[in-house]
Order: sequence, then C-alpha cells, then structure tokens
Amino acid sequence: MKVSKLLAGLFFCAASLGAYAQQPIVIKFSHVVAADTPKGKAAEMFAKKAADMTKGKVKVEVYANSTLYKDKEEMEALQLGAVQMLAPSLAKFGPLGVKEFEVFDLPFIFSDYDALRKVTNGAVGKQLLTKLEPKGIRGLAYWDNGFKSFSANNPIKAPTDLKGKKMRIQSSKVLEEQMRSLGSLPQQMAFSEVYQALQTGVVDGTENPISNLYTQKMHEVQKHLTLTEHGYLGYAVIVNKKFWDGLPADIRQQLEQAMEESTRYANQIAKVENDSALDAVKKSGKTSVYTPTKEERLAFKKALIPVHQKMEGRVGKDVIQAVYKDTGFKPDSL
Ligand code: LMR
Repeated sequence: MKVSKLLAGLFFCAASLGAYAQQPIVIKFSHVVAADTPKGKAAEMFAKKAADMTKGKVKVEVYANSTLYKDKEEMEALQLGAVQMLAPSLAKFGPLGVKEFEVFDLPFIFSDYDALRKVTNGAVGKQLLTKLEPKGIRGLAYWDNGFKSFSANNPIKAPTDLKGKKMRIQSSKVLEEQMRSLGSLPQQMAFSEVYQALQTGVVDGTENPISNLYTQKMHEVQKHLTLTEHGYLGYAVIVNKKFWDGLPADIRQQLEQAMEESTRYANQIAKVENDSALDAVKKSGKTSVYTPTKEERLAFKKALIPVHQKMEGRVGKDVIQAVYKDTGFKPDSL
C-alpha cells in the first residue's frame, strides 16, 4: 500500500473516531401527560439543564402524551433499556411489585403539599426509592402534581353520588378500594385512554388533579367537577439503573445537579399550574365546578379514611404509621 493511501486511511479513522466521541449521550424521557402540565414542563426543564450543565454531552429527548409508550409499556421499556427515564405517577408502581408506593394513594393522608414534602424529603421517601433497585431502576426524585378531585356527569356532593358509577382509576389497589368504599365500580385504564372512555360512556367519571383534567380536555366530557381534593398525585423520576451507573462519573454528577434544580422547579410550579388550570376550566363553561362545604368534605373523609386500615395488608402497616408520624395525621381525629 502506498504511504499516502495509508495516511489517508488513518486520517479517516481518526476523524470518524472524533465524530463518534462527540455524539451526545441520548436520554429518552417518556411520559404520558401533556407538555404543558407540571410534569411536562419539569421534564423540558430537565432536558434544558442537562444540555447546559453537560455542555451538550447529554441530549434529553422528551416524549410527552404517551407518544412513545402508554403507562404499562413505559415501565417495561425502562427496564429493557428502550427508554432511559420516566416519571410515572406514584400510583403506578404496584404492578412492578413495589406496593408500598400506594401509601401515597391513601385518601386524605396528606393535608397539603407541606405534609407530603415531609415524607418525600424524609426517610420514608428515600427508603421507598431504594426498593426499586432490585427491579433495575434507580429513583432520582419526587415531583409534585397535586390533589385529585372527582368528576362525573352527575352532581357530586356526597359519597353516595358516586354509588354505582364506573370510575376510571390508575393501576393501584388502594385506588380500587377507595372507589369500592364509595360504592363505585373501579375501572383501571391507561391515562391515554381516559378521554375517549369518558366521551363514549365506557366510564362515568374519574379523579384527577385539575392540570391533567384540563390538558386532556376531560372537562369537556364531564358535566360536573367537585373539588374534593381527596388524594395526592405525584411522580417518582426514575432511570434505568444499568444505564445510570454506566455513565461517566462527571456526567452523572452534572445530571444529578440538573435533576435537583428541575425538581425544585417542578415543585414550585405544580400548585400554580393546577390553580391556573382550574381557572381555565371555570372559564370554559363546559363543566360546573363545585366546592364542597366543610360538612360535605367531612362526609367524604368519613367514607374514605377506613381505606387506610383496609389496605394495611397491601401497603404495610409500618409504612402507613411512618407516614402518619411524619405528617402528624391522625386517622381517628375527624
Ligand atoms: C393518570 O394516569 O391519571 C396519571 O398518572 C397521569 C399522570 O402521569 O399524571
């Protein structure tokens, strides 16, 4: 071989190696809600911060609105490594075998975001995330959405108003029991299917933080919304453990920093987003929004707090007691 040809070949190799080295690490971040929700916005913020902090070495591709995977599939995809990052609702970890997460679904267990924060920022929150490790998943953070309210096509003022109604739920046994305690018929289904199920009457009603209700236009196919705020919906940001552990240490550290800042942002905007979604729902005039009186809310509490004890066997009495201790919640003091 001529020397010039050899040199040209070597040059080509070096150039392509250089190009390869510059390829960014891609993180596919899949989620099921709209881009303009607390989770959607926080995911975008993470993508931006990850790019900034790693100086372009990491590219986070965010896939919103179940465009890549629906609820169940996204968990499988994460474990298989087809996507690297998700932020499923805490109500969706039961099918994975980590039932303790359903403690977050217990009705009325958190009086507000502050009470919730004591758990997610404390030992219980940390411990729960470590339970994901044997599943090949690393938990990075908790992101807020907010408090769920019931909607249906009939007015909802008392627990008996949901009797016999088919109510869509996420994949949580606690939520199933919650609906049964109201005499409703729980129907578990993926988030991406809820609008159509409501529209066609496959289900009569549902429960959601208002940001989810509004961005999926569910208020257009539900005549009544009652601001029961009877339960919490938030997220665990999770990554494929093998992928995460395999990142160069400096990059992982930069991403952890990006996550910390995005988490602060997520938890700052959640309430604001839900409040503005509520304003928009009211303005739309498509559904009538009812604020229950103190007595009416108490009736829902009386009907639903027994769910805590009923689900001890599923969630773990110790976990429930630990949450009570962190929040000061007393199930008997209604
Ligand atoms: C739901 O399925 O209702 C929620 O988990 C959707 C979400 O991710 O907020």
